[in-house]
Amino acid sequence: MLRYVILAVLAVYVFAQNKHCCFPRKWEARGVVNQALVKNGTPAMVHADVFISYDASRKMVALNQTVKVANRTIVIRTIEDFDKNIAYVISSPEVCNKTNISSKFADGCVPDSAKALGHVMLGYGADKANVKSFALNASGFDVILTVTSESCAPISETITGFDNKTKLHIYQTFGLYNMTPGVRNESVFHIPDACHKKNATGAWHQHGSVIGKRSYELL
Ligand SMILES: *[C@@H]1O[C@H](CO)[C@@H](O)[C@H](O)[C@H]1NC(C)=O
Ligand SMILES: *[C@@H]1O[C@H](CO)[C@@H](O)[C@H](O)[C@H]1NC(C)=O
Ligand SMILES: *[C@@H]1O[C@H](CO)[C@@H](O)[C@H](O)[C@H]1NC(C)=O
Ligand SMILES: *[C@@H]1O[C@H](CO)[C@@H](O)[C@H](O)[C@H]1NC(C)=O
Ligand SMILES: *[C@@H]1O[C@H](CO)[C@@H](O)[C@H](O)[C@H]1NC(C)=O
Ligand SMILES: *[C@@H]1O[C@H](CO)[C@@H](O)[C@H](O)[C@H]1NC(C)=O
Ligand SMILES: *[C@@H]1O[C@H](CO)[C@@H](O)[C@H](O)[C@H]1NC(C)=O
Ligand SMILES: *[C@@H]1O[C@H](CO)[C@@H](O)[C@H](O)[C@H]1NC(C)=O
Repeated sequence: MLRYVILAVLAVYVFAQNKHCCFPRKWEARGVVNQALVKNGTPAMVHADVFISYDASRKMVALNQTVKVANRTIVIRTIEDFDKNIAYVISSPEVCNKTNISSKFADGCVPDSAKALGHVMLGYGADKANVKSFALNASGFDVILTVTSESCAPISETITGFDNKTKLHIYQTFGLYNMTPGVRNESVFHIPDACHKKNATGAWHQHGSVIGKRSYELL
C-alpha cells in the first residue's frame, strides 16, 4: 500500500538574469499532470487535472487540482504567495495548512543557460501553432520546456530525475491548454480565514526548492 501522495505541479519559476523569453505576466489555463514515481522500488502513478491562475506582478499562483492516486481522488486548492514565501494548501473551506516556500519567484523566464532545441510547428495547415523547446537542468532534474514561439506561453513540460529529499524517482509531464489572458476572478488569490487560524500548519511538507517542480508529500 502506498503511504504517500504527491501533488505536483509544474511551474517554471526559473530565476535568470539573462533569458531567452518570459511567460505572459498574467494568465489562466487548464493543465494535465501525469507522474510516474518510484520510491524504494514501489511504483505509483499520479494524474491531476489542474486549473492554474498566474500573476507575476502579485507574485502569486493559485491552483485548483483534482488529483488521482491509485484509486483515491483528492480535490485541493493551493495558493502560493511568493512575496510572503508561503503556500496555503486548502483541502476544504475549514481546513487549511500552511507551508513555507523555499524557492524564488522569478517571473517565469527561460534562462539563457537553457539549451534552445529549435522551433517546430504543431498541427496542420491553417490550424498550426509555432512553438519552441528548451532543455534545462534544474537542481539535477532534466527539464524539457515547450512554449509558443512569439508569446512564450508555456505549453508543456517534462521533468525527469531523482528527488534527493523525498527519495523519489520522478517522471512528470505537464501540459497546458485553453490559456486565457488575465485572471477572471481575483478571488482565487484570496486567502481563506481558515488559513489564519493558529493550527493552520502541519502535515504538509513542501519539497519545493526544485525548480520546475512543486510537490507536496502527504504521509
Ligand atoms: C475546483 O475544481 C473543482 C473541480 O473541478 C470545482 O468543483 C471547484 O468549484 C473548484 N474550486 C474553485 C475554488 O475554483
Ligand atoms: C482501493 O485500493 C485498495 C488497495 O489497493 C483496495 O484495497 C480497495 O479495495 C480499492 N478500492 C476501490 C474502491 O477500488
Ligand atoms: C483547525 O481547527 C479547526 C477547528 O478548531 C478545524 O475545523 C480545522 O480542521 C483545523 N485545521 C487543521 C489544519 O487541522
Ligand atoms: C517558515 O518561515 C518562517 C519565517 O521565515 C520561520 O520562522 C519558520 O521557522 C519557517 N518554518 C519552517 C517549518 O521552516
Ligand atoms: C543535470 O545535472 C545533473 C547533476 O546536477 C547531472 O548529473 C546531469 O547529467 C545533468 N543533465 C544534463 C542534461 O546536463
Ligand atoms: C543528496 O543529498 C545529500 C545530502 O544533502 C548529498 O550529500 C548527496 O550528494 C545528494 N545526492 C545527489 C545524488 O544529489
Ligand atoms: C468571484 O468568485 C467568488 C468566489 O467563488 C464569488 O463569490 C464571486 O461572486 C465571484 N465574482 C465574480 C465577479 O464573478
Ligand atoms: C493539515 O494538517 C492537519 C494537522 O496537522 C492534518 O491532519 C491534515 O491531514 C492536513 N491536511 C492536509 C490537506 O494536508
